Amino acid sequence: MQHNNILILDFGSQYTQLIARRVRELNIYCEIHPYNKIPNNIDEYKAVILSGSPNSVRGEGVLHPDLKNIRGKKPLLGVCYGAQYLAHFSGGEVAPSNTREYGRANLSFVKEKEDFFHNIYEGSQVWMSHSDTIKKLPENAVLLASTHDVENAAYKIEGEPTYAIQFHPEVYHSTDGKQLLENFLVHIAGVNPDWTPQSFVEETVDELKSKLGNDKVVLGLSGGVDSSVAAMLLHKAIGKNLYCIFVNNGLLRKNEFHDVLEQYKGMGLNVKGVDASARFLDALAGLSDPEQKRKAIGRVFIEVFDDEAHEITDVKWLAQGTIYPDVIESVSATGGPSATIKSHHNVGGLPDFMKLKVVEPLKALFKDEVRRVGASMGMDKALLGRHPFPGPGLAIRILGDITAEKVRILQEVDAVFIGNLKKYDLYDSVWQAGAILLPVNSVGVMGDERTYEKCVALRAVESTDGMTADWVNLPYEFLQKTSNEIINKVKGVNRVVYDISSKPPATIEWE
Ligand code: XMP
Repeated sequence: MQHNNILILDFGSQYTQLIARRVRELNIYCEIHPYNKIPNNIDEYKAVILSGSPNSVRGEGVLHPDLKNIRGKKPLLGVCYGAQYLAHFSGGEVAPSNTREYGRANLSFVKEKEDFFHNIYEGSQVWMSHSDTIKKLPENAVLLASTHDVENAAYKIEGEPTYAIQFHPEVYHSTDGKQLLENFLVHIAGVNPDWTPQSFVEETVDELKSKLGNDKVVLGLSGGVDSSVAAMLLHKAIGKNLYCIFVNNGLLRKNEFHDVLEQYKGMGLNVKGVDASARFLDALAGLSDPEQKRKAIGRVFIEVFDDEAHEITDVKWLAQGTIYPDVIESVSATGGPSATIKSHHNVGGLPDFMKLKVVEPLKALFKDEVRRVGASMGMDKALLGRHPFPGPGLAIRILGDITAEKVRILQEVDAVFIGNLKKYDLYDSVWQAGAILLPVNSVGVMGDERTYEKCVALRAVESTDGMTADWVNLPYEFLQKTSNEIINKVKGVNRVVYDISSKPPATIEWE
């Protein structure tokens, strides 16, 4: 539990995580909890924010939080649904809007400006997204601001630190949204914005030291940002008692096993590289279904990791690079489970019999925060800026069955593509990129010879979290050079295509 903690109660809005990100950008720590699971230690939270929701406060879908230990007792901000909830159940009235209110609006202040609108000026642009509207304010409310279409756009409750706004301060289009959150949290709730990467490192290292004492910890490194930063934090806390294992599943990028292993050693980590390529390829032989491939890789990984972990006497803990988006319990608007699109296998999940306790030093951080924490520990920029890479690696970029030869071809193609992105300074502006080996041969002509060889697809996307993504408009000249280089250098490939599908409806990986 960090100090100065803010509680965000989630009513299922698509923007709830954005509220958390904005608050953290202010160097204030916060947590998201479902509206109906208020933490037992609520007294320790400095302020509470109620999120928006796809539901309505009228009728059957109403979501009721239990505010008895919150309302009037600590600073409270209702956003959209939160504002409507505070109005509707305290003597006010919420009704459907005559027109659905989406998009831009401009604030006009009704009451003399006060702390809540510090540094925000008449006409400030805000973003609306609601189909209900507050027709009548609740008891003891004072109207603070209106917009052209929404009379009750912001109000406060006399005699208690409760504020409510119909618009969304968390979205980029609310120009002064971050200022407004700062006003509420710093000026009204009196929170000290002192949650920085450095303070996170200090607090976490202290916590890890007292939690782990002299115990031994094992961690699976993947070459990615999360497991590497988790390892560095643990290394700072317990030094050589951290045992890292980096498994080569034979499906990594060209030279990656060697290069990354060297880099880890250079960072002072106690790391063992295990080359299990042959074991993985054997297990994959003859499999072409993507989910079967994922499962086979997951199973072999556990076997290999388990064998290695058994070599360490008296190991008590398993460390994982789990990050915040993986642990936020989501509120489903429909109440139903969401469909499994792909069974993402991530490092971890050891068999029960090992009975290791789990330690997850990054589980409070978003991805960009993990990078900042890594940078504050002096970790290499190139390691921190690496594109995400799936656990099953090239296995899900080779469509259909996998052979050593196909892996070789794809590694070569990928190396040209990624190498060129770096060479032409495009790597950092792309969220993720890679090549896909298609199960298609096509006719070509090289010299005077007819060829009948493989086709590869290149994919480069922009995204913030991988949930949605769009293809990157890479310069034609870059694509031209890269395609030429691939076809000239990589034996077995005579055709290159560029994937121009967004997610949804496509996904980032092809399998
Ligand atoms: P999709 O293909 O679902 O990918 O749009 C979203 C993000 O997840 C990664 N991904 C995986 N990561 N195991 C992983 O660890 C997997 O099985 C897996 N499948 C996809 C993908 O690379 C992208 O970053």
